[in-house]
Amino acid sequence: MRGKAFVFCARIRYNIAMSTYKIITYGCQMNVHESEKVAGLLEARGITECTEGVPDVVVFNTCCIRDNAERKAIGQIGRFKQLKKDNPGAVIAVVGCMTQQDGAGLALRKKFPFIDIVLGTSNIEKIGDLVADALTTHSKHVEIDDDPRPAIVEDVPYYRTSGTNAWINIMYGCNNFCTYCVVPYVRGRERSRRREDILAEFEKALSDGYKEVTLLGQNVNSYGNDRADGYGFAALLEDLAKYSGDHRIRFMTSHPKDMDERVIDIVAQSPNICNNIHLPLQSGSDKILKLMNRRYTRDDYLSIIDKIRAKMPDCGITTDLMVGFPYEEEEDFEDTLDMVRRVGWSNAFTFVYSPRRGTPAASMPQVPAEVSKRRIMKLIAEQNAVTRRLSDGYVGGVFKVLCEDVVEKDGKRLLCGRTDSGRMVTFDGPEGLVGEFCDIKVTRSQSASLFGTRV
Ligand code: 5AD
Ligand code: SF4
Repeated sequence: MRGKAFVFCARIRYNIAMSTYKIITYGCQMNVHESEKVAGLLEARGITECTEGVPDVVVFNTCCIRDNAERKAIGQIGRFKQLKKDNPGAVIAVVGCMTQQDGAGLALRKKFPFIDIVLGTSNIEKIGDLVADALTTHSKHVEIDDDPRPAIVEDVPYYRTSGTNAWINIMYGCNNFCTYCVVPYVRGRERSRRREDILAEFEKALSDGYKEVTLLGQNVNSYGNDRADGYGFAALLEDLAKYSGDHRIRFMTSHPKDMDERVIDIVAQSPNICNNIHLPLQSGSDKILKLMNRRYTRDDYLSIIDKIRAKMPDCGITTDLMVGFPYEEEEDFEDTLDMVRRVGWSNAFTFVYSPRRGTPAASMPQVPAEVSKRRIMKLIAEQNAVTRRLSDGYVGGVFKVLCEDVVEKDGKRLLCGRTDSGRMVTFDGPEGLVGEFCDIKVTRSQSASLFGTRV
């Protein structure tokens, strides 16, 4: 712990430039990327990542999408009380969605008085200044704007940590108000970044050597709707597709109500844009979709799937599914299972509905926990059967894979990477291949896992 060298008087003073940080991230890719922003702002202050020993600064980047995400963060924050005992000058900061819920920021400080900084989602750019201040003066800060819709701040230094992939936010916030979801409340309304800012960040990512860029937004299909220039997601994809070179582009998340054919056409026509679409369905029941305020029907969804498959038969389509939403009856759940069999998602992220304070669905009649539990088990089993069948279909084929990482499997060091369609493949090879594209013949599948050899 390098900072301890700077103890004087009764107080512990830190040389900021010799302090270290650790960021603990919960939740979605947006949060993972936001932690890269926090890291960038701390690094710009000379605070470096803690690779051994006890950190001087701990930042919790929280999520509140479901109750278990919130409970996990609270449990973990509680455990850091000991860090303050071992290192009284350490700074503990809590940022992210959880802080932005009604009164939650102050409640956190009350529950854990050892927390030094609580920052709302609109105030994140201040993290570098406040941490520096807290390290040197031991002052406490709680900054949460009631209205989480700040102007977009550009030129924030990112400290990218996601290997071969560079995340690029194209927009922030969400306007959809699905009745179960806290995101519009904690992240505010949609704000799209300017075309030139996105293109500049994209060019920089390529010139820094990133082989994959993933465009991020809660609903990428509504990119640009808040801007007057008429420049939308399809046009953005078209612009990005013009960059030649050995790289690929992914994007997430698409909303079925806004998925237009032009986007499907551009993805299909552009070799650098992966045939991989994350298209959350949530429920297969029209009754439940209406109660969720999703604004599409199961037939609308199926018709988008048909359009995607007509242009890209091998497109990897993934989804999010929820069980136990208020008023979900057995036949509604059966409708969701029916969609699992009909659509053939390569992967589905499955959730039990979790009531969120302040959202309309929280005051609807709740489905008993044991019913939701039985349903989620059944749903997972059905999707696993589909994933297994689709995995078998890869065996014998040769796929271009971007080698992303080294993994330990049965005591052996192997490489892993994804196909254009987004399926993870494990294969043998030298570690120097990380960051390179390889042609991999899939030789074996095991549930969701694919194994192959270089050809
Ligand atoms: N309960 C359970 N799952 C939720 N999601 C969003 N809000 C809730 C909630 N209250 C799921 C949705 C969404 C994914 C990111 O998280 O499926 O697509
Ligand atoms: Fe939440 Fe719906 Fe917005 Fe997705 S589209 S972030 S589920 S409100």
